[in-house]
Amino acid sequence: MQKEKVVEVKGLYAAFGQSVVLRDVSFSAYKGEVTVILGGSGSGKTTLFNHLLSLYPVSMGLVKVLGRNVSTLREVEQVELYHQMGVFYQSGALLNSLTVAENVALPLAQHSELPPGLIDEIVYMKLGLVNLSHAFHLYPSELSGGMLKRAALARAIVMDPPLLFCDEPGAGLDPVSLESLDNLIVNLKERLGMSIIIVTHEVSSILRIANRVVFLDNGVVAFEGPLKEALHSDHPAVEEFFSVMKSDNMRELLG
Ligand SMILES: Nc1ncnc2c1ncn2[C@@H]1O[C@H](COP(=O)(O)OP(=O)(O)OP(=O)(O)O)[C@@H](O)[C@H]1O
Ligand SMILES: [Mg+2]
Repeated sequence: MQKEKVVEVKGLYAAFGQSVVLRDVSFSAYKGEVTVILGGSGSGKTTLFNHLLSLYPVSMGLVKVLGRNVSTLREVEQVELYHQMGVFYQSGALLNSLTVAENVALPLAQHSELPPGLIDEIVYMKLGLVNLSHAFHLYPSELSGGMLKRAALARAIVMDPPLLFCDEPGAGLDPVSLESLDNLIVNLKERLGMSIIIVTHEVSSILRIANRVVFLDNGVVAFEGPLKEALHSDHPAVEEFFSVMKSDNMRELLG
C-alpha cells in the first residue's frame, strides 16, 4: 500500500542575495512517521523548515503540505492549513505574564469557540500528556528548561494538529531531559498518530525518534530514506555524521 505523503518537496531552490542555500531539494515525509531533517550547521535546515511553514515564499520548485501546494493558497486556505499544523519553536517562547495553563490555552482561546471550562479540561489533558499536570498554575519563570520545552510542546499540540513541526526541540537540554522529550515525541506519533517533522542535529535523539532521515549537505539532499539505510549510506558527509553518532552512542553505553 502506498503511504500517504504529508510533505512533498520537489526541485526547491532558495537563495539569499547571490548566495544559493538550497539546490534542487526534493524529499517526502509520510503520515504517522517522524522525519528528521539533519545536516551540519549552515546546511540549510532552518531555511528548508521555513519554506515548509510558508514563512518564506517558494521562488522555485514545489512545496506541498498536507496535499496543498503552499504557493497557490489563498489567505483563507493558508489559515486553514495553519490550523492543521503545530509548530514548536526552538526558543519555546511562552509568555511570561501568563501561567502555563493560560499559555497552552492560547491557541484554543484564539481559534476556537469552546467554553472556558472545556478549554481548561483540554489543557489539563495536554499537560498530562507531557507530564506537567502539576504545572497548571505555575508561571514560566518557575519552570526548568526541560519543563519549558514540554510546556511549549503541549501548546503546539493543543489543537490536535495532524502535522507537527519542531525546530531543534532538544537544543540546550541535558541528556536526561532530552531523552524524556524524545520519548514524548515518539508517544505523540504512536498514541495520537501524529506526523512529525523535526529539524535537529542532536545526534543521540536521531536513533531514538527517526523513521526517516533527510540529510542536507551544503543545501543539497545527500540522503533521503529510512533511518536504517542512512546508517549504511556511503555518502561521505552522511557516513561521517553517523560515525560520530555511533561513537557517541558507544560512549553512552560505556557510561
Ligand atoms: N535571513 C538570511 N539572510 C541571509 N542569509 C541567510 C539567512 N538565513 C540563512 N542564511 C544563510 O543560509 C545558509 C543556511 O542557513 P540555515 O539557517 O538554513 O542553516 P541551518 O542548517 O539551519 O544551520 P544551523 O544548524 O546552524 O541552525 C547559511 O549560509 C546562512 O548564513
Ligand atoms: Mg538552523
